[in-house]
Amino acid sequence: MDKIVIGGGERLIGEVEVSGSKNASLPIFAASLLTEGENLFHNVPRLKDVLTIVRVLKNLGVKVREKEGAYRIDATEVSNDEAPYDLVKTMRASILALGPLVARMGKARVSLPGGCAIGARPINLHLVGLEAMGAKIELRNGYVEAKADRLKGATISFDTATVTGTENLMMAATLAKGKTVLQNAAMEPEVVDLAGVLKKMGAKIEGAGTGLIGIEGVESLHATEHTITPDRIEAGTLMVAAGLTRGNIKLLRCPFHHMEAVVHKLRETGTEIDPEGEGVRVVGSRRIRSVDVKTQPYPGFPTDMQAQFMALMSLSRGLSVISETIFENRFIHVSELQRMGADIRTEGNTAIIQGVESLSGAQVMATDLRASASLILAGLAADGITEVSRVYHLDRGYEGLDQKLKMLGANIKRVKEGN
Ligand code: EPU
Repeated sequence: MDKIVIGGGERLIGEVEVSGSKNASLPIFAASLLTEGENLFHNVPRLKDVLTIVRVLKNLGVKVREKEGAYRIDATEVSNDEAPYDLVKTMRASILALGPLVARMGKARVSLPGGCAIGARPINLHLVGLEAMGAKIELRNGYVEAKADRLKGATISFDTATVTGTENLMMAATLAKGKTVLQNAAMEPEVVDLAGVLKKMGAKIEGAGTGLIGIEGVESLHATEHTITPDRIEAGTLMVAAGLTRGNIKLLRCPFHHMEAVVHKLRETGTEIDPEGEGVRVVGSRRIRSVDVKTQPYPGFPTDMQAQFMALMSLSRGLSVISETIFENRFIHVSELQRMGADIRTEGNTAIIQGVESLSGAQVMATDLRASASLILAGLAADGITEVSRVYHLDRGYEGLDQKLKMLGANIKRVKEGN
């Protein structure tokens, strides 16, 4: 197993390109299940989670070929309807196969994801929605078994805005008979990217990016070509890296217009962020101002940036309050940041951070992707050496983050654990 070793204190300087979005790639790959013919997707990030969704598709009999970050996916023949426990337990987003499979094949057997390091993360809303569309759902032996002759359009109102729930039902509705309306739908840019792909495939969708999505079912969908949108969370993570190191970096392919809440909060901390030519310039400030943050569904401040922002606040001049409203257990990084000298107190889903003068390098680890990123960021700014182990969490969702930081001048290397 690899670990990442960081010598803190280097200013990040230079240019770096933001990779394709993880959370857009996963549903878009699943959407291939709805089509006949060969889809071609560009700008797909090299990530463990992408390899996992490819395994899910291959296990269903789908043909998948990769060349230099472009994927050809042909689901003309789908020979199996099962997403097994071994794959779903590796990645919860495998549940995204459920909607497309029921819609196209009339049946699916997908393992229930179970709990996760950051919270219980139920999928009840995915199932209630499919039932409203006429699917018969049974939970048996740890699996969701869903059947339907042909799904029927329905009006579905989500109790909570759910990203993958919206994506699953939007995909299912494209092949349903009649009109589906999704109320209180998730508005995340990844939902919009997926809707764009589905429309290119021949689906009739209106309102993606708002809380009200209308889908008029069609008889069949065809293959298409698409370039995955850049990853706003990776871009935000790199912005925080610049903020923490008094850096001066330029982000290329930065999805600036999807990052309003993050950019707004980072500017409040004193980090300068300005569009410049084809990219976005980010300049860290000598004094990091403390700022309060509350995570919210898009367009609010994303939960996927909360841990990284907390690393920044650890070195701010003052007191900051961070409230996590999406997941009940997403403070995994707190105890590790404390080991690096951060002054953080938690009360339920609120963290109170008193900025300190300096952090000190330590051996740390995290069991969640964004928490791992937060520790690497803290390590960039800490005195001495930080070792972040269990790096496979990072590799699930960031394409070569350590290499990108190194290119920007960070003293960072990846070593085999035990060396
Ligand atoms: N929820 C329910 N019932 C459901 C579905 C969701 O109660 O059936 C609740 C959840 O427990 C949570 C809230 O609704 O409290 C929102 O969860 P959501 O369903 O939106 O999360 P998700 O779709 O499972 C996606 C991203 C996450 C990201 C969240 C929130 C993908 C593949 N995953 O998860 O990304 O944190 O939306 O924005 O898109 C990550 O990339 O590190 C990551 C965890």
